[in-house]
Amino acid sequence: KSKITIAVDGHSSCGKSTVAKAIAKELSLIYIDTGAMYRAVTLFALRKGLVTEGKVDEEGLAACMDDIKVEFRKNEAGGLDTYLNGENVEKEIRQIVVSSHVSAVSSLAFVRKRLVSLQQEMGRSGGVILDGRDIGTVVFPNADLKIFMTASPEIRAERRYKEMIAKGDKVSLEEILENVKARDHADSTRKESPLVKADDAVVLDNSNLDPQGQMDWIMDRLRERN
Ligand code: C5P
Repeated sequence: KSKITIAVDGHSSCGKSTVAKAIAKELSLIYIDTGAMYRAVTLFALRKGLVTEGKVDEEGLAACMDDIKVEFRKNEAGGLDTYLNGENVEKEIRQIVVSSHVSAVSSLAFVRKRLVSLQQEMGRSGGVILDGRDIGTVVFPNADLKIFMTASPEIRAERRYKEMIAKGDKVSLEEILENVKARDHADSTRKESPLVKADDAVVLDNSNLDPQGQMDWIMDRLRERN
């Protein structure tokens, strides 16, 4: 089993998780969806009324951090589901209300500090692929391979739209495009660990690549390393 560490960072909805899961399967790595962890904390805050209209009750949330337990557990399909205090929240954290508030929550230093150390703990012995915004810059700056993924906002919104419609969610393409652009902006301009390409990351623009094409591209980058 490989002990390699792969960091996948990039913009919202550009298929980081699809590619990361495929690579994890191919190389028998553990896949860690760090966005799901920020989403789970956001869901907690929403339920407690600690975030409204993009504004977070920072003191209130800070006081709760010790009551928030985020973990991953295997599901029947062999993948991992996200759990918040013992409850499977995998579906709920993907809803647009969570997407609309997650950037506000993830910009808080105390939230990041907690989740980053949890991620470092999970990946401590290697054999992992993580996707997020700050994996190659903050969480695992010594990762063996760093990939920075991107695609045009329109293409990303359309992909996410199709995915959500297929799941039966009632959303509009405009609403999703707005959310994609708003998150790009918030994630890239925040003070705490903004989304930036690590100097030694390789850029994968997948605007015109299908999942298999992306997978082949990454396997080539891995081969180049050896
Ligand atoms: O990857 P995903 O779109 O699910 O991430 C949701 C949000 O969580 C991002 O828009 C970003 O605000 C935050 N995030 C982060 N750092 C990470 C992963 C996600 O700030 N490593």
